[in-house]
Amino acid sequence: SLLVPSVLELAKEPIDKIPIRYVHHDQDPPSNDVHVPSVPIVNLKSLLTGESMNYELEKLHFACIDWGFFQIIDHGVSLSLLEEFRRQVIDFFNLPMEDKKKLWQQPDNHEGFGQLFVISEEQKLDWSDMFYITTLPVNQRKIELFEKLPIKLRETMEAYSEELKKLAMTLLSLMAKALTIDDNEIKELFRDGVQSMRMNYYPPCPEPDNAIGFTPHSDADALTILFQLNETEGLQIRKDGKWVPVKPLQNAFVVNVGDIMEIVSNSVYRSIEHRAIVNSDSKRLSVATFYSSNLGSELGPARSLVGPKNPPVFRRMPIEEYFKNFFARKLNGKSYIDFLKLEVT
Ligand code: SIN
Ligand code: FE2
Repeated sequence: SLLVPSVLELAKEPIDKIPIRYVHHDQDPPSNDVHVPSVPIVNLKSLLTGESMNYELEKLHFACIDWGFFQIIDHGVSLSLLEEFRRQVIDFFNLPMEDKKKLWQQPDNHEGFGQLFVISEEQKLDWSDMFYITTLPVNQRKIELFEKLPIKLRETMEAYSEELKKLAMTLLSLMAKALTIDDNEIKELFRDGVQSMRMNYYPPCPEPDNAIGFTPHSDADALTILFQLNETEGLQIRKDGKWVPVKPLQNAFVVNVGDIMEIVSNSVYRSIEHRAIVNSDSKRLSVATFYSSNLGSELGPARSLVGPKNPPVFRRMPIEEYFKNFFARKLNGKSYIDFLKLEVT
C-alpha cells in the first residue's frame, strides 16, 4: 500500500475545505425516511439459557437473513475490560505523531496506522485514520509490530482478542444451529480461525457531505464484531436500497455477517454493504474485530447444508488463496461474493 497522511493531524488545522483527495462527490444521501426499522437487537444470555432460547435463535436467524446485521446485548464480555480497552485505544490514537510514525504502514505491509487498499496517488481517501493488526492465531502476528505497541494497550488488546474469539465462536455455533449446519463442520472450519482488528478514528470534518469516513464495502471475513467507543453515530447499512443508520447502543456490539459466512450459508445469510459517515462537530471511534476460518480450511458452502435439493451457489477455494486475492485486490473490482459465485444455468 502507499503511504497516506494522518487525517487526525490534518483535522487539527483550522481548515474549512478538505483537500481534494478526500472529496467524494458521488455519495448517496442517507435515508430520510423516519419509518425505517432499526437493526434487530439480540440478547445472548437469552440465547444460551432460559425459556426464550428458541424465540431468540429465530430472531438471530431472521436478523442474519433479512439484515445481515444485529446488535448484541448481554454478550458476557466484562464491562471493565471494555472500559479499559476503550481508554487504551483512545490514548493510542492520541500519541504524538513521532511515536505513531514508528507504527505507520510500510509499503510492503498493510498492518499498522494508515489506510487499507491505497494503490494509486489519484485514489480518493477516507476521512479517517485506522490501525490494522492481525491478532490470531498467535503465529500469524507480526512480532515487530506487537513489540512496538504500548504495553498496556497490548495486554488489554490480547485479553479483548481472546474474549471476542470466544464470542465469535459462540455466535457461529448458534448460526450453524439455526442454519442446520453440522456443528462439527463449523467447529472444524473456525477452530484457530484468523482474527484481525481495525481501530478507526474519524475526526470531525469541515465538509461532512463531501467526505466519507469509510467507503461502502462488504466485509470479507465470516463475522465482524464492532465496538463503538463513543456515542457518535456514523455507521450506515444498505437496507432495501436505502442507507439506514445504526444507532450506537451503550455496551452493545454491532455484529455483521461477512462474505465468508454468506458463502458458508450458501447465500441464506447476507453480507451487507455498509459505510461510515462523518460529521462536522464530533469525532467518532470504533474497533472492528474480524473473524475468519482457519488457514487450513477450504471456503465453500457447508457440506452438511448442500445437496441435490440445495445445490451450491458458490465454488470452493482454499482460504489462503482467498486471502491472497483479497489483499492483492486481484478481483478486477468484483466483490468476493461475485468472484466465487457459480453461474446459474
Ligand atoms: C466498518 O467496520 O465497516 C465500519 C466501522 C465503523 O462503523 O466505524
Ligand atoms: Fe466493514
